[in-house]
Amino acid sequence: MAVRPLSEAPEISFDAPGDAHAVLKRLREQAPLARTPIGIVLALRHRHLELVTSDATRQMETETKVMQGITSGPIWDLMTTGMLFANGDVHARRRAPVARTFAFKLMDAMRPKVIEVATELVEPRVGAGPIDFVNEIAAQLPARIIADILGVPRSDLPIFMQWIADTAESLGFIDLTRRQQIEDSLTAFNAYVGDLLEDRRKTPKGDFLSDYVDATARDVQLSEAEIRTQVLGLILAGSDTTRGSLCMTLAHLLRHPDQWRAFRADPDGLKKGVVAEGLRYEPIVSGVPRVALRDLDIDGYLVPAGTPVAVSLISALRDPEVYADPDTFDITRTDHPRWHPIFGGGAHRCVGEALARAEMEETLAVIARLAPNTALIGDFPTLAQGAIRQVSAMNVAFA
Ligand code: HEM
Repeated sequence: MAVRPLSEAPEISFDAPGDAHAVLKRLREQAPLARTPIGIVLALRHRHLELVTSDATRQMETETKVMQGITSGPIWDLMTTGMLFANGDVHARRRAPVARTFAFKLMDAMRPKVIEVATELVEPRVGAGPIDFVNEIAAQLPARIIADILGVPRSDLPIFMQWIADTAESLGFIDLTRRQQIEDSLTAFNAYVGDLLEDRRKTPKGDFLSDYVDATARDVQLSEAEIRTQVLGLILAGSDTTRGSLCMTLAHLLRHPDQWRAFRADPDGLKKGVVAEGLRYEPIVSGVPRVALRDLDIDGYLVPAGTPVAVSLISALRDPEVYADPDTFDITRTDHPRWHPIFGGGAHRCVGEALARAEMEETLAVIARLAPNTALIGDFPTLAQGAIRQVSAMNVAFA
């Protein structure tokens, strides 16, 4: 069959009426690919996830920051010394010491700690009326856990959380009016992480950072900036993602009272299914971007070498070829693939998956146990457009 030019693929309009799911469903029914106004091609099918791991593509590097005119300064330094936007050996060298010390088993063993922190956050608010769930619970939980993993004293938590709030968007599309504030906070955050590392070099404490310092000492090629940025990367990559996913999963559970009732009757039995479905139904990461290294034939369309292609997770996670009744929220579905696409794939698959799952599963289980009559107050939360989709306000009453 003749290969069609990319110009024949439909164009997505971000101003189109309807939510992202409705827009992408319409496109998916027309073609397997869509073009965006900024020149990135969206691959819409679950099967296109193979592009993420294929040797015919590479990870995006500095392209998105260059597009925004950012070519130096602290945001640029974060991009160019981290693992997420690197390829090949450079990526492997930066990732190895983190992967070794942030191992799946170790993170899974954090569950009792997560239960302790979630209880500390939820218990005093039961029966206390409506609360700002986004900031009082969902932002606090991952910040407190990563602070504990890194050995940040509780007294530093307010400034640590302020830095996270100021700098988390560094990984995605930046609101350029906030650039100065982001960069000032990044500079201070970097210095703080540098001091934590220095402290462990002088006095190892047998904790995560001491092990990480030890693992990096074995690789003389890693610069001090690279060593620091991987720690910052862990903090930033795990913040807005876990925060928004926790909010949307709880919101959808509460919207389906029968499923909420089933969950609160058996939180430990159902928590894995709840989180897998929450992450599928409303994906916090909109897509996994790559660049074509050679001309690609994607389902009959020619995608020329050099084209940025993002596999749309919002679309792929509702692909009817994989998920029965994809627009139905169902915590008991059995058709989740073994590797949940929300955490990417291949060399860059999320390092924090085990921690994110532990945080979400245990926090939701704590809420179900301590506050079985929890109710959503006011508007249903939504996720904005963006690489990491920011959650709107969400108020709940724990009861
Ligand atoms: C629900 C929560 C989370 C989701 C949905 C998520 C999703 C992802 C995805 C899709 C990628 C791959 C991006 C790509 O290939 O372009 C990724 C990478 C990464 N994630 Fe997560 N993540 C989450 C939580 C976390 C947490 C809690 C941490 C650490 C504490 C973390 C640390 C990282 C790091 C360091 C990378 C870069 C890996 C590499 O480039 O080799 N993430 N994440």
